[in-house]
Amino acid sequence: MCGITGYIGKNKKAIDVVINGLESLEYRGYDSAGIAYVLDNKVNIVKEQGKIINLKSKLDFSIQSNLAIGHTRWATHGEPNQINSHPHSQGKFTIVHNGIIENYLELKQELLENGYKFKSSTDTEVACAYMDFLYNKNKNILLTLNEVSKIFRGSYAFGIICSDDLNNLYALRKTSPLIIANGNGENYIASDVPAILRYTNKYMLLDDMEIAKISNDKVEVYNKDLKVIKKDILEFEGSFESSMKGGYEHFMLKEIHEEPTVFKNTINAYFDGDFKNIPDLSKYNNIHIVACGSAYHTGLIGKYLIEKYANIPVYVEVASEYRYKHNFYDKNTLVILVSQSGETADTLASLRMVKEEGIDTLSIVNVVGSSIARESKYVIYTKAGCEIAVATTKAYLAQITIFALLTMYLTNNKSEEILNEINNIPSILEENVNIDYNYIANEIYQNQNIFFIGRGIDYAICMEGSLKLKEISYINSVAYQAGELKHGTISLIEKNTPVIAICTDESLLEKTISNIKEVKARGAKVIFITTSDIVGDFYDFKISVSKVNELLQPITTIVPLQLIAYNVAKLNGCDIDKPRNLAKSVTVE
Ligand code: G6P
Repeated sequence: MCGITGYIGKNKKAIDVVINGLESLEYRGYDSAGIAYVLDNKVNIVKEQGKIINLKSKLDFSIQSNLAIGHTRWATHGEPNQINSHPHSQGKFTIVHNGIIENYLELKQELLENGYKFKSSTDTEVACAYMDFLYNKNKNILLTLNEVSKIFRGSYAFGIICSDDLNNLYALRKTSPLIIANGNGENYIASDVPAILRYTNKYMLLDDMEIAKISNDKVEVYNKDLKVIKKDILEFEGSFESSMKGGYEHFMLKEIHEEPTVFKNTINAYFDGDFKNIPDLSKYNNIHIVACGSAYHTGLIGKYLIEKYANIPVYVEVASEYRYKHNFYDKNTLVILVSQSGETADTLASLRMVKEEGIDTLSIVNVVGSSIARESKYVIYTKAGCEIAVATTKAYLAQITIFALLTMYLTNNKSEEILNEINNIPSILEENVNIDYNYIANEIYQNQNIFFIGRGIDYAICMEGSLKLKEISYINSVAYQAGELKHGTISLIEKNTPVIAICTDESLLEKTISNIKEVKARGAKVIFITTSDIVGDFYDFKISVSKVNELLQPITTIVPLQLIAYNVAKLNGCDIDKPRNLAKSVTVE
């Protein structure tokens, strides 16, 4: 949800650094982009609708500026036009913002009464004017930022320039992520690590309500009592190269191809040593898994595995629902939060809600040091590395790997059989990611409706396959429990409607085949994905996936679905890594 970057320093051209940084954050939003840079003691703003490439065509890269802030937007308040783009400026303040100021209408009213005028319909311009308004009274930037952090409700990461102090870049954060990286005679701010990786892999995290005052040579971080505090320096494990496309046409394809390594890294991190820092999970009477999007789908896989093998009831909830409903938890409940980014607003809010009730929390998170990871009682990091494509693939695979490992841990299953299976998975995945599914994509890419059907754990996989397809190819797609289709939805099946039917749980093979025959009889074009060697005239295409231990089966079954979605989107000419209307890290509710 919006990416922000900033640079102050003697060595580089601030415009270059900020634009490079924004390009690696474009996965966070791409409705518009803008930059503010200082030249001859004046703040200049250039902004443009659409992707960063549009902004670049308006910029003079020869300009030698030593201070700039930039923004790539996922619109929340006001349409994604040039006026609503960031940076926004009011009086002496120019800011970029990731997040939402919930009480902005109230603040706007107060500002209007005090003579402020607004060009845009954004909450950010109001936030900017409010900073100016307070600063005019107290003439102190730190005091102003400290005061706004008490007044603004909602979430924010701000990069701030005040024309009275062009020797410093300021930053302030609550809920939305913000990092600060140090160079030699230069410093950076960014929403996420990829933005700074080409310069350094060392960074610090700004915590809620903290203010940073950043010059060429110095970073001072103030807490909410305006006391200077010391911050830990973190080191990012990946390299700049690992955050690049590496010869693949799209990040999504590159990330699918990284899945064998991601699986290996995740297993290596936890299989031998178990989960050193987490407690005996079998002491919990029930488990709630709370997450959004694909992470929610991994929770559904977790539920099947944990319930079946560890015999613990598991309730899986979408975070944006969970936090507003009546939940049944007590001291014997463990709440598991799953999140690639570790910053998803509803998942974070759910975590905070249950923590307040004294419930134990465990997060499964990819981004080290993210809010969800830091605020949960226990954390397990997935080892997916930096994921850039908006549609998650390798992080999803890492999350289901963790659920398989947790189930083994809960059941104390370290049998030779499982160990052999685990050892075989990377080569199976390697083979799978290299299969060409274009022939399937060609059969379905022109359809307006595509169905996924399956039973049990296969239904959970269908949900992810269907989401992948719709988010990047814009084709309407629905996942259904195979046996439920006849209770209404089957009326949508007509001649040549694609139905992707999955059956890897062979105890349900006959039942699933009956359901497939029901749609086939109504003209559906059936793509049957299965571990079984059964043949018949009930499908049009069969995709065989290797049969592995049931705990690990989803890990190999998901790959064809990811690749089919990728190929369909490609045939439809879609912007695969940056699908319309979406953003990777959803820091708004
Ligand atoms: C967005 C992304 C999804 C992701 C979901 C949850 O909608 O586009 O791919 O599954 O957020 O994100 P998280 O970072 O919490 O896993």
